[in-house]
Amino acid sequence: MTRTIAFANQKGGVGKTTTTVNIARAAITDHGLKVLVIDADPQGNATKVLAPDHQGSLERSLATVLDKAKSTPISEAIVASEWDGLDVVPAGSDDLADAAQSLVTMKAGRESRLKKAIAEIEDRYDLVLIDCPPSLDQLPINAFTAADGLVVVAELGQFALDGLDRLLDTIEIIQEYTNADLKIVAAIINDAQQTKRMEHWRSELASILEQLPEPVPLLDPPVQRATFIAEAQESGKGLDEWGTPKASVLHQTYVQYLTTILTSLKAEES
Ligand SMILES: Nc1ncnc2c1ncn2[C@@H]1O[C@H](COP(=O)(O)OP(=O)(O)OP(=O)(O)O)[C@@H](O)[C@H]1O
Ligand SMILES: [Mg+2]
Repeated sequence: MTRTIAFANQKGGVGKTTTTVNIARAAITDHGLKVLVIDADPQGNATKVLAPDHQGSLERSLATVLDKAKSTPISEAIVASEWDGLDVVPAGSDDLADAAQSLVTMKAGRESRLKKAIAEIEDRYDLVLIDCPPSLDQLPINAFTAADGLVVVAELGQFALDGLDRLLDTIEIIQEYTNADLKIVAAIINDAQQTKRMEHWRSELASILEQLPEPVPLLDPPVQRATFIAEAQESGKGLDEWGTPKASVLHQTYVQYLTTILTSLKAEES
C-alpha cells in the first residue's frame, strides 16, 4: 500500500527539502522501499539534488501535470534519480508557479489535482514524498489533500513558532474540506544548536504540539546545524555515503524518523 507524506512549513529555509531528501535516502537504503519524490516547489531544490539533469522548464514536469490545459499523465513526468530505487517528478521551475496560479481560477477539483495524479501510479511505489514550497497556496494545498501524513519541519525560535499557527490552521481547513484522513504524523526540528535558548523554544514547540486535538510527536534527537548536511546535499550524496561518523549517525536518525512516521501512519489505519 502506498503512503504519501508531505513535508511542510510555509516558512522558507527551515529544512523541508533537506528532510525530504534524507528521509527518501533512508527509505531506499535501510527500509528497502521504492520511493517517488514529488518536487512541489517552483524553486526546484529537490530536483536539483536528486535529478540535476531535469531542472528548469521541461516538456513534462509537475507543472504540466497540474496545468489544466496540458494535463500530462504523471507517469510521463517521472524521471529516474541518481539513486537506485528513487524516482522524481521534477518541479518544472517557474512553469510550476504559473500552473499553481492557473489553478486559482479553476472552480471544481483544483485542490485534488495532485491526489488524482498520484492515484494513477500508486501501485508503483511504496512511498511518495512531497517536498512543499514555503507558501500556503494551491501547491501545498494540493500536497496536503493528496497526503496520508504530514511532517512539520520546524526551526526553533520566536518567529518560527509564530508562523506555526497559520500552518496548523491551514491543515485544519484541509481536514475539514478536502482530506478528512490527513494526519500530522510528526514534527522534526532542523538546524538546532545546543543552547539554553534552543532548549526553551524546543519545550515551547513540544507543548504546542501536545495541546493539539490529536497530539503530534516531536521526533528526537533534533537535527543539529552542521555544514556537512548542506555539503552532502549539494554534491548529491546520501549521508550514508558521506564517509564521516557524524554523517552516518545522522543517516540512522533519519532511518529512525521514518520508522516512527510509518508506524504512526499504520496505527491510523487500524
Ligand atoms: N541542519 C542543517 N545544517 C546546516 N545546513 C542546513 C541544515 N538544514 C538545511 N541546511 C541548509 O540550509 C538551506 C535551506 O535548507 P532547505 O533547502 O532544506 O530548506 P527549505 O525549507 O526546503 O527551504 P525553502 O523554503 O526555500 O524550500 C540549504 O542550503 C540547506 O543545505
Ligand atoms: Mg525547499
